[in-house]
Amino acid sequence: MKSFLLNCSVFLLLVFAAGCGGDKTEPAAGGADKPKPKSMLAEEANPLEDKGIGPITSVEMGAALDQALAEKGRVIYERMCTACHKPTEKFIGPAQKGVLERRSPEWVMNMILNPEQMVKENPIAKKLFMEFNGSPMANQHLTQEEARAVLEYFRIL
Ligand code: HEC
Repeated sequence: MKSFLLNCSVFLLLVFAAGCGGDKTEPAAGGADKPKPKSMLAEEANPLEDKGIGPITSVEMGAALDQALAEKGRVIYERMCTACHKPTEKFIGPAQKGVLERRSPEWVMNMILNPEQMVKENPIAKKLFMEFNGSPMANQHLTQEEARAVLEYFRIL
């Protein structure tokens, strides 16, 4: 978690620094070039900053893995998810290995808990839905606790 946070803040700092640099130099050029609009920056944003849409706005990930929680998650995953997912291979849905390098923990939990709205309204989920030829991610009606356990399991894939 610490290194994840650190990466995020370094990323934010860089974005911020780049933005400020632009603001300082551009007016000197006669003000002809406007600073980049915010929306353009948002499009280039790191997908790891997208928290998705749903009940989860913030997830605490411990620096160390919670083994017991990951084990609970594995049991839930094997029961509820393997009809469509394999940990390391693309199946009906994407392979889950490495998902936390591609997505924020909040996004992953919202995709598990609120897939219907995610595939309609979240740009990353929409694109994924297209890539998977319109087969939808199923709402398995996990509780938030169960989804959190599955998230912990995703750390060890
Ligand atoms: C009926 C099939 C099906 C079931 C069951 C299912 N999924 Fe999915 N899942 C998908 C599909 C298909 C996608 C790709 C997105 C889309 O098409 O909506 C997906 C996408 C995802 C994603 C995003 C993956 C990424 O790489 O960004 C996560 C996370 C996920 N599923 C987790 C789960 C979990 C956890 C369970 C079990 C609780 C589960 N899924 C059960 C079909 C399923």
